[in-house]
Amino acid sequence: MGNDGKRTDVQRARRILAGLGVRSIVFVGMMGAGKTTVGRRVAARLDLPFADVDVEIERAAAQTIPEIFAEYGEAYFRDGERRVIGRLLGEGPQVLATGGGAFMNAETRAAIARCGVSVWIEAAPEVLFQRLRHKTNRPLLAGPDPEGAIRRLVEERYPVYALADLTVPSRDVSKDVVADEIVAALDRFFARPPAAVAAAPSAPPAGDCP
Ligand code: S3P
Repeated sequence: MGNDGKRTDVQRARRILAGLGVRSIVFVGMMGAGKTTVGRRVAARLDLPFADVDVEIERAAAQTIPEIFAEYGEAYFRDGERRVIGRLLGEGPQVLATGGGAFMNAETRAAIARCGVSVWIEAAPEVLFQRLRHKTNRPLLAGPDPEGAIRRLVEERYPVYALADLTVPSRDVSKDVVADEIVAALDRFFARPPAAVAAAPSAPPAGDCP
């Protein structure tokens, strides 16, 4: 990339950081959508710290997610997930990758709307299944019909993920290309006129970050 390209990238990153303030960029979407891989790349482009919520939960519990599910059940995991996201949102600006179920929690969605800009990486169920079929670390897919489980989760979750501020399709291109598209989409998002921001369904409600 020439000097002009680099200068444009730096200016774009500055505009995004100014628009973000203390808010974080929060990746949402299904397991296997690429939230962590793409999130890391977006963080690097904007020179922001990156945190993976699942990793933070495992660190706080000193247990793996399958162990937490097996020992205490999903409801306990969800409670920890909500609390960890609340804490991380108070430490922005940074880039967060959330676990696939996190955005389904209304309290978490409200906290993200207040303290973050949400980005949904949308991927077709077949793509997710191909990426996840040899993985053993997703308790929700541990049953006899993981493909059916993915389809059911997609049906239930996609209308909710669609509430995110930005939607980016996970296409059959490199994660670097997807990360570049997201940075461009964030730049457009912050360039919206104030009236459009106020009218948006996800306009941040008044109130402080957690
Ligand atoms: C889950 C997704 C996982 C993890 C847990 C539950 C879900 O995170 O939080 O296994 O409900 O979709 P990833 O989306 O990072 O795989």
